[in-house]
Amino acid sequence: KKQIQIAIDGPAAAGKSTVAKIIAEKLSYIYIDTGAMYRALTYKALQTDTNLEDAEKLLELLRKSVIDLRPGKAGQLVFINDQDVTNEIRTNEVTNVVSFVAKHAPVRQEMVKRQQLFAEKGGVVMDGRDIGTHVLPDAEVKIFLKASVEERAKRRHLENISKGFSSDIEKLKEEIILRDKMDSEREAAPLKKAEDAVELDTTSLSIMDVVDKIISIVKERE
Ligand code: C5P
Repeated sequence: KKQIQIAIDGPAAAGKSTVAKIIAEKLSYIYIDTGAMYRALTYKALQTDTNLEDAEKLLELLRKSVIDLRPGKAGQLVFINDQDVTNEIRTNEVTNVVSFVAKHAPVRQEMVKRQQLFAEKGGVVMDGRDIGTHVLPDAEVKIFLKASVEERAKRRHLENISKGFSSDIEKLKEEIILRDKMDSEREAAPLKKAEDAVELDTTSLSIMDVVDKIISIVKERE
């Protein structure tokens, strides 16, 4: 069987990472969470008081930063210069400004270069915003996952509650709308369905429904 590239894009909280992880596990592929890379740089920028509007300073910081995605017992761990930032990159502080960091073309260029190296040998499931359009334009399988903003906020809300975090569903909705807007309207590699991507609306689908649909597409192409 061929070791193919699977690209999964879509707006915030559409279930990309949940589905991508399960598919990678089933196929014994590597899962690459590109959002985690932008989040790790954002965390580092906040830590070092780097101006989030200064593309050159951010690029300089990125060049000094080794970002690693390593398999852990309870899922993927994210390291920046050997510091485990798996939890730190999921805070609201990072989530609410990551799109400012991700809009800069020089930062994206460097990230894309690293992501392409990770995916070189195939056998990867990569999720993000520009995977099908820019990072892996030749991916054998491209999926664009979407869901209503109400459904996405609800899922995030339930996830927060199950983790024992406080959560406000209306606020989540606003944050998701704002992040999608920034990600879709930026000039450099905006969030967009690739022409050859299969669009799946997951609003009324279960996680396993989505996984099964994607696996059946993979089976046709590997
Ligand atoms: O996927 P996740 O929500 O963790 O992504 C965080 C942010 O990183 C996105 O809102 C977007 O601004 C940025 N991102 C991106 N391109 C990607 C992946 C993420 O611009 N391929």
